[in-house]
Amino acid sequence: MDAKDLDRREWLSVIGAGLVVAASLALAWPPAFAAGPIDIKFSHVVAADTPKGKGAAFFKKRAEELTGGKVKVEVYANSVLYKDKEEMEALQLGAVQMLAPSLAKFGPLGVKEFEVFDLPYLFDNYAELHKVTQGPVGKQLLDKLESRGIKGLAYWDNGFKVMSSNKPIRTVADYKGQKMRIQSSKVLEAQMRALGVLPQVIAFSEVYQALQTGVVDGTENPPSNLFTQKMHEVQKHVSVTEHGYLGYAVIVNKKFWDGLPADIRTQLEKAMHEATDYANKIAKEENDLALDAVRKTGKTEVSVPTPQEKAALRKLLVKTHEELGARVGKDLMQSIYKETGFDAGKL
Ligand code: LMR
Repeated sequence: MDAKDLDRREWLSVIGAGLVVAASLALAWPPAFAAGPIDIKFSHVVAADTPKGKGAAFFKKRAEELTGGKVKVEVYANSVLYKDKEEMEALQLGAVQMLAPSLAKFGPLGVKEFEVFDLPYLFDNYAELHKVTQGPVGKQLLDKLESRGIKGLAYWDNGFKVMSSNKPIRTVADYKGQKMRIQSSKVLEAQMRALGVLPQVIAFSEVYQALQTGVVDGTENPPSNLFTQKMHEVQKHVSVTEHGYLGYAVIVNKKFWDGLPADIRTQLEKAMHEATDYANKIAKEENDLALDAVRKTGKTEVSVPTPQEKAALRKLLVKTHEELGARVGKDLMQSIYKETGFDAGKL
């Protein structure tokens, strides 16, 4: 056998291997749908014992029941798989199929309109919020994700945020000069700057340590996150300001979703619908219980601002609406005002 023969043989085997790879790639999309269960990896950053964690567990149960085991959902809580920024990339690359990031975390993806939900005092209660998240404005926002290869399935509630710090945060003046952790939202950055606070974006999984080591003095979060991450153990003061809302968009990799067999997709939509009802039903109670639990530990002073203190905070923070209108979209902001009857002058 001469060198030429060897070359030819090698080429043939390379071409053969190439054909095998091409054929298996063709078979792999939609991947593994023909054989075995369809895997959905659902990654999130909070504890299992939170509104989002429980919503994800509920979705898993119903998705597996309704599809008769044709779909297997693996839920990864507490950033065990990916942290904030990484999880978005992982979804787009198809390394995970489902996430429920906070609405404050879509800016880096280029969909800054979601930061509208971060505007201080935009919603007075869940009923006002639901007019947006369960109505046409919410739907239009989810549709904006499609150009990023993402399909938005639902909004899940968490709750209204409290401020926490190792320094007193009773009055507006107290905040000046403090360092506080925020999520990656320009609206939250402006909100903190309006208070004279130095904001610092830190991944959720690193907040406890940042508070413990004094990298930042404080932060903001709904009580369910504060309590389940044990942040209260490293925070001396909590102020129940309820100055803003934190909730989620449940999202999937669009290519994956569109490639699902139609009957499976319908069953998953039903499971998501039920999980959404469930998550949104428990959110307020979970946060009320968490705040009580923080109080009961006696480790943190929990104060509720007086109406005057709240009015002073509101007056200062509502100014950010005008400042950030151009970023989040003035028309969008106005359409939310219209749904909720928002009144900037209200105290
Ligand atoms: C945060 O980073 O504070 C929250 O977005 C975490 C979460 O997912 O609730």
